[in-house]
Amino acid sequence: MAELVLVTRADLDKQPHEVAEMFDGVAKRYDLTNTVLSFGQDRGWRRATRTALGLRPGERVLDVGAGTGISTEELGRSGAFAVGADLSVGMLQAGRRVRAEVPLLAGDALRLPFADGVFDAVTISFALRNVVDTGAALREFARVTRPGGRLVVCEFSHPTSTAFRTIYMQYLMRSLPTVARGVSSNPEAYVYLAESIRAWPDQQGLADRIAAAGPWDRVGWRNLSGGIVALHRATRV
Ligand SMILES: C[S@@+](CC[C@H](N)C(=O)[O-])C[C@H]1O[C@@H](n2cnc3c(N)ncnc32)[C@H](O)[C@@H]1O
Repeated sequence: MAELVLVTRADLDKQPHEVAEMFDGVAKRYDLTNTVLSFGQDRGWRRATRTALGLRPGERVLDVGAGTGISTEELGRSGAFAVGADLSVGMLQAGRRVRAEVPLLAGDALRLPFADGVFDAVTISFALRNVVDTGAALREFARVTRPGGRLVVCEFSHPTSTAFRTIYMQYLMRSLPTVARGVSSNPEAYVYLAESIRAWPDQQGLADRIAAAGPWDRVGWRNLSGGIVALHRATRV
C-alpha cells in the first residue's frame, strides 16, 4: 500500500504562505543542514556579508529573511545594532531557542514593520530568491534605509567557470536533495532550493534588477566560492 507523505515545499511562483510553511518545516535543523550542504562554507559567506556592509559600532542594520537569526548574529559582531525580520514563525521560534539575545521579529520583506529611513544598512541573505516580487522588495528595502545607506544582497548565483558550473549543477540537482534526505527535517524543501537557484538570475541580471528597482545606485558585486554565491552591494540615493 502506498504511504501517504505530507510534502511541504513551495513552487517557483513563491506564494508567501507556502514559502513560510516550507521554512517552518526546515526550521528545526536549518543551521546544521546549511553547514552540511555547503561543506562549512556558509560561515565564510556570512562573514563576507558583514564585511561588505562596512558596519560601524552604533549603526542600525536590518537583516531581512533572517530565519533562525544566524545571519543577524554575525552582523552583530560588528558592534552595530542588528535586528532580523522573517515571515516564518517556525524559523523565528527555532532562532529564539538558540539565540535568545538576537532581536528577531515577524515581518514580510514586502511590508516591513519599520518607519522610513531608520536603518543605516539593509541586508538579505539567501532569502531574496524566495520573495515573490524582487523589485517590490528592493524598493521596500530602500524605503527603510536612510539616504547614503547601504544594501548588501547575499544570494546563490552562477559559477563563473563553465566546467565548474556543470559540476555544481549536477551537485545541486542530484546530490544535494539526496544528502538533504539524511539531514533535513523537510528534504522536499531542498528540491525547491535547487530549482530556485537554477532559475535565479546571474550576477549581471541581479545587478540590473537592483538598479531598475531604484532608488539604488553604485551597484556592484563580488563573487564568493567561484560564483556559487555573489554579494551585491548598492548605495541608497
Ligand atoms: C534560506 S533562509 C535564510 C535565513 C538566513 N538569512 C540565513 O542566512 O541563513 C530564507 C528565509 O527567508 C524567509 N523569507 C522568505 N520570504 C520572505 C518574505 N517575503 N519576507 C520575510 N522573510 C522571508 C524564509 O522564511 C526563510 O527564513
